[in-house]
Amino acid sequence: MSQTCKKLFNASVFSNFKALSNRNVRNAPQLRLYHLGSSLAARISFNMADIGEGIKEVVVKEWFVKEGDTVKQFDDICEVQSDKASVTITSRYDGVIAKLHYKVDDVALVGKPLVDIETDGDDVPREEKSEPDPQIKQKSPPPASKEDTAEKISIHKEQSSGPASSTTNEVVDSNKEVLCIPAVRRLAKEHNIDLTKVKGTGRDGRILKEDALHYLENLKKSPAPTQQPPTTTSQPRVQSVPSGTDRVEPIKGFQKAMVKTMTDSLKIPHFVYSDELKITRLSQIRKTLKTSHNQSISFMPFLVKAVSNALQRYPVLNSSIDDRCENVTYHARHNIGVAMDTKVGLAVPVIKDVQDLGVMEIHAELRRLVESGKQGVFKPSDLAGGTFAVSNIGSIGGTYMKPVILPPQVAIMAIGTSQLLPRYDDDLNIVPEEIANISVAADHRVIDGATVANFVKDLKKQVENPYLLFLNI
Ligand code: COA
Repeated sequence: MSQTCKKLFNASVFSNFKALSNRNVRNAPQLRLYHLGSSLAARISFNMADIGEGIKEVVVKEWFVKEGDTVKQFDDICEVQSDKASVTITSRYDGVIAKLHYKVDDVALVGKPLVDIETDGDDVPREEKSEPDPQIKQKSPPPASKEDTAEKISIHKEQSSGPASSTTNEVVDSNKEVLCIPAVRRLAKEHNIDLTKVKGTGRDGRILKEDALHYLENLKKSPAPTQQPPTTTSQPRVQSVPSGTDRVEPIKGFQKAMVKTMTDSLKIPHFVYSDELKITRLSQIRKTLKTSHNQSISFMPFLVKAVSNALQRYPVLNSSIDDRCENVTYHARHNIGVAMDTKVGLAVPVIKDVQDLGVMEIHAELRRLVESGKQGVFKPSDLAGGTFAVSNIGSIGGTYMKPVILPPQVAIMAIGTSQLLPRYDDDLNIVPEEIANISVAADHRVIDGATVANFVKDLKKQVENPYLLFLNI
């Protein structure tokens, strides 16, 4: 990128964030970025922004515009999903969408054109006009065809319970095409609206959002179709793929990240050390916090703090190794990743600088990340920079777990569900204890078993005597 473009990009990102923070906009929690690519006097080509973290490609999840639409600065253009975060791309210019370079579910490459916008020319900063991309010479786009200006979608008019048609032509013959933008298609999908039955009031019969909502309103007033006996011409709400057929789905997003990380992890010789934690006292503290202080704090913040304290004494577990296994980097920061079951699959968002945080601060940060996970939208920075990981399967179930290291990290800890079990006390009386099993997996190339055992011993001591969490001795 030229220096001029870099300046423009930085200034643009800043002004975009500034504007977003002052406006109540849709998807506000999501990171909004755009990137200026090549430009002409009247046609601007936006490249897919470099959103950091070495992300090279994203999946286009939804277009909020179509070719021919008029957009204003900061209008949402599209939403893309990387294997680490969801990002909304916004427009920098007032103008008309001249070209969408990808369809929904296409993979868009970082640094390659994403969308072209036609401006009246006055909108284009002087620096951009003076550096036109010599490869693009035409001033206006070719006239948009009917097919270009709105997305055509195909919907089965009738769904039989038998196997799907075997050829593409057969499918097209039995379909009815409707014109609408992807947002309307998504709305229809969410509410099970059969778009072939909706009358479009837009240009060339396009179905607008209002049309779909109006149809839905009427549908609610009329008797539910499920009350009628099924006939061969009815349209039951069934899965698009009839049972008995295979379905192929591309691996994308967070799952794609999992494929890569776990494949890399296979190279690591895992040493797994397990023990049990008595969390009876910790549970009592949690109960007191809840009943006397109205604070509902899960095990995790205590556990994460105990891990950090123990890492101070066994720093090799908070290190990473390079690809060639030639250097170990001991990390000063304790950035603890927490394995999380999120709306978009397994993610490991990171609680940063745990060494400087108290239990309540860890609790607050964990709740923030859990909320992000429920939305399925993390900031890229939330998912980056982990130095150690903790996986608590206990809230779901499962007593034992063998965790798998997330390279380039060298260790990970897992905890299972706690149970009330009989144990001997110091006087050999049998007493009820709340027990949770933990396992620490370590990279045996750089960490020996004795170090892991000592780390777990230290961690155990703190969890079982929770006052030590605050004293860190
Ligand atoms: N044993 C028994 N109960 C447990 C527990 C454990 N190990 N861990 C949590 N719980 C309980 C909590 O105390 C809470 O109950 P309460 O409200 O009565 O106190 C309940 O389970 C729900 O806890 P949760 O809201 O999940 O909070 P958390 O801070 O314990 O966990 C996450 C947060 C992110 C770890 C959790 O939501 C999650 O996603 N776990 C799945 C992790 C995963 O998928 N691991 C596998 C990776 S391969």
